[in-house]
Amino acid sequence: MQTTYKKTSNPMMHRPVVKPELVQWMRERQTAVTGDLAIVLKQASENNIPIIPHETVVYFQMLLHLLQPKRILEIGTAIGFSALMMADAAKECQIVTMDRNPEMIALAKKNLVDFDHRKQIKLLEGDAADLLSVLTAQENEKFDLIFMDSAKSKYIEFLPKALSLLTENGVILMDDIFQAGEILIPIQDIKRSQRALERGLRRLFDEVLDTPKYMTSILPLGDGLLMIKPQD
Ligand SMILES: C[S@@+](CC[C@H](N)C(=O)[O-])C[C@H]1O[C@@H](n2cnc3c(N)ncnc32)[C@H](O)[C@@H]1O
Repeated sequence: MQTTYKKTSNPMMHRPVVKPELVQWMRERQTAVTGDLAIVLKQASENNIPIIPHETVVYFQMLLHLLQPKRILEIGTAIGFSALMMADAAKECQIVTMDRNPEMIALAKKNLVDFDHRKQIKLLEGDAADLLSVLTAQENEKFDLIFMDSAKSKYIEFLPKALSLLTENGVILMDDIFQAGEILIPIQDIKRSQRALERGLRRLFDEVLDTPKYMTSILPLGDGLLMIKPQD
């Protein structure tokens, strides 16, 4: 079944970093979401809940097929769309996902009951800062892929714990790192309310880009996806 993505069907589409007509073409030419996932996608669209956009879904499906991760950690569940997508793309994989918003948690719980058919997903409730500390304190908690899709200002703060939770060949992915191009604007010209977020992102870029400590790749998918792989 060919799924049609209207320009307004996903909140992230309001801020494309690639020509809108090309994004539209990518969305129309590649089927990413069918069946149960299409139901969750519709919930997100109808309730204006930000989830990863179509082209990021397609990329994850390919990446998970190639990497065959055994365990994934996700920070930022929302209603469970990306967790369910990853569970479908990596059917043997265990996924631990976390969120702090009670409304999102309630919707995610229902979606997991309805659609997590292989019981692959564990939802942790609370702030990622606390939950990551709990996970890092446990010896056997390791993940082959860690996906951050939560408060962007905190990515830099979550990074050390994420690194310690990563398996030897593991990779970290962070979504929405372009902030619709705000990264190009001097910090003093950014709205005050956005400055903490932008400062956090800039600290992250200073830490991970252009250093032998990490291999990185910035992909212009959705609002920007950053991949980080620690180097020996
Ligand atoms: C963009 S949504 C996640 C979308 C989801 N990954 C998807 O694509 O289906 C971001 C979520 O991160 C959660 N979040 C933000 N900061 C958080 C934090 N510090 N700890 C836990 N959850 C957080 C929010 O409550 C929100 O539900």
